[in-house]
Order: sequence, then structure tokens, then C-alpha cells
Amino acid sequence: MALFDVRPKSRREELFDRERELGELGSAVSRGHPLILLLGVRRIGKTSILRTFLSTVNGIYVDMRGVVRRQDLEARVADYVSEHLDRFRRFLSGVRGVSIAGLSIEIRWRGRDSISFLGLLEELNKRGERFAIVLDEVQHARPPLSAELRNAIAYAYDNLENITFIIAGSEIGMVRDFLRLDDPSSPLYGRHVHEIAVERFSMDLSREFLYRGFREEGVEPPKEAIEEAINFFDGIVGWLVLFGRSYVDGARDFSYIKRLAIETALQELNKLTNREKAVLKAVAHGCRNWSCVRDFIAEQHGILLPKSTLSRVIDKLEKLSIIKDYTFLDPVYKEASKNLHTTLT
Ligand SMILES: Nc1ncnc2c1ncn2[C@@H]1O[C@H](COP(=O)(O)OP(=O)(O)OP(=O)(O)O)[C@@H](O)[C@H]1O
Ligand SMILES: [Mg+2]
Repeated sequence: MALFDVRPKSRREELFDRERELGELGSAVSRGHPLILLLGVRRIGKTSILRTFLSTVNGIYVDMRGVVRRQDLEARVADYVSEHLDRFRRFLSGVRGVSIAGLSIEIRWRGRDSISFLGLLEELNKRGERFAIVLDEVQHARPPLSAELRNAIAYAYDNLENITFIIAGSEIGMVRDFLRLDDPSSPLYGRHVHEIAVERFSMDLSREFLYRGFREEGVEPPKEAIEEAINFFDGIVGWLVLFGRSYVDGARDFSYIKRLAIETALQELNKLTNREKAVLKAVAHGCRNWSCVRDFIAEQHGILLPKSTLSRVIDKLEKLSIIKDYTFLDPVYKEASKNLHTTLT
């Protein structure tokens, strides 16, 4: 009763496979690597790997979606710590600015006897045990918080030998942009990062995943439905879960579940700019180079976009990990892009 649970997994028993990723994370952290990147497209299972990993190693998990100001970050750190107080009591008792009373914990971030985020890292470091700080979807951080985070990561990199930062995100190019490893004016310039890529499941693994999930639920779909799903969803576990869950809940028509997935992807794509959407639509219709994209858009909208504009848009779509070399990284997004409504003026 777990594999088809749609929330991110956090226990080893409910996490299918991912031996390699957990093993790599474990050895990088125990070797004392200061900065680890965990990258993979949307729904590939990053958060599940990270949360499960933190059930074996001391650490704090922060989802950076919706974190705008430093106060938001502080609130999420405090929330995580309170939810896992049993494990943190030992680490945090006696720390300035932290008061633990029974089952509740309060961290004072401001005013008298307070502690800063960096101060907290220093205290955690002093405990002499490895401690991981996980920042998931870090590309959402905006200035000035993004710069503060880079400084904190660089400071920990240089001075806090027991702290490992694990940075994760689905918009892979945007995560790299956040770190600014190639920018001489960035505090993280030239640092070494240990990168771990989260890959899609092979066909065989996808099949095994679905069979195991359905067995848990006591449902036995026809072989054809399973083959259709593993063919279409291309090893992206989040979609396999959506398929499994929907089927178990009574949706027995594959094309219905497929539409559900496409609709979900479409909602995300609709947040893009009109130009980005127009380019995606062209790529979804088979364009493999910029001049084809330009012609497609000219035909649809009567507007001839300059090459420089197109390159910029294509570059951005690659950084968002939606396409790479004019191919979609996720077939569901490709189908959704065919249905995008775009207006260009
Ligand atoms: N190894 C796994 N075994 C079972 N279920 C998994 C596994 N990995 C991910 N899932 C499921 O797939 C879905 C997506 O997983 P998760 O949220 O961890 O991915 P993600 O890469 O963090 O996605 P996003 O980019 O949207 O944040 C969830 O429903 C989760 O429960
Ligand atoms: Mg996630």
C-alpha cells in the first residue's frame, strides 16, 4: 500500500529501486563532499530520493518552491525541525536561539539571543557529525535571497567541514544558473560539485514498477494497458504513479488517463511566455532547427521572429529542461505542446 501513493516517498520500503542514486548520495556525503547536485526532469523522483535519503542521514530538507524572502526559508527550516524533533533534539539542545520544550521547538531568528541561518549551520557543524542541508527546487530563489544562499553555501564549503549542501531541481539549467559556478564574481566560482543525475526507468523497470504497484493494490489490469502506459510515459515515475493510481481508482480507459496527464502538463506550460509556447508548439510539430521554428511561427502567426530572439527562447526552454536539441525530454509535454494556444503580437 504505497507505490501508487502520489505524494513524494520518504521511506525506503515505499521507494522503488533508486539504489544507485541513494548509494551515490550516501558515499558523497560520507566522504564529506561539501556540495552535491541532484538533477532530473520533473516527476522523475528527486524529492522522493532526497526525503528517503534523509531517513538515513542527519539533515534538513527545504522545498524552495514559494520561498521568496529569508523569513520563508527560516520558517521552512523551523517546520522541518519541529516535524523531526526526535532526531534534532540532540543536535539542537543548548544552541543559542533555540528553545525546546517537550514536543515543541522554537527558533528565534531575530532580536535578542537569536540565531541566523548561518549561525545555525555553524552550530550543526560543531556537533562533529555529518549533516546535510537539502535545498530542493533551488532555482526558485530570487535576489537577495539567492545571493545570501550562495554566500552561505560558499561559507560552508570553505569552513564547515561537516556540512554538505545538496542542491536539487527540475529546471536543470536554471539550477546551474543559480549556482553561478562559472561566474568569477560569484562566491561559488570554480567550486567542485558532485553531480548526480536521476534517470528515467528502463522499460523493464517501468513494467516491474507497475506490476508491483498493481499487486499491492490487488488490481490486475490487462497486459495491453500496462504496455501502453510504459510505452507512452517513457520511464518517468511520476506519470507511472498517476497511471497506476487513476487505474486503481476506476479509470479503466488508457486514453482518458493519458488526457489527464496531458492536461496536467498543459497547465504548467501555460505559465510560459507566448514566445516560449509558440516555439514549443513548433518543436512539438517536428521542427528540428531554428529556421523551421521561425517558418512555423511565421505561418501560424504572420510574425517573423529574428534568429537572436529564437535562440534566446530555445536556450531558455533548454534551461527549463523541457527540450534538448529540439527534442522533448518528456513525451507528455510534447503532446501537451501540440495543444498550446498561442497569440503573438
Ligand atoms: N522510486 C520511486 N518509487 C515509487 N514512487 C516514486 C518513486 N519516485 C517517485 N515516485 C512517485 O512519483 C511521483 C513524483 O515523485 P517526486 O515528487 O519525488 O519527483 P520529483 O522529481 O521531485 O518531481 P518534481 O520535479 O515535480 O518535484 C510521486 O508521486 C512519488 O510518490
Ligand atoms: Mg520534487
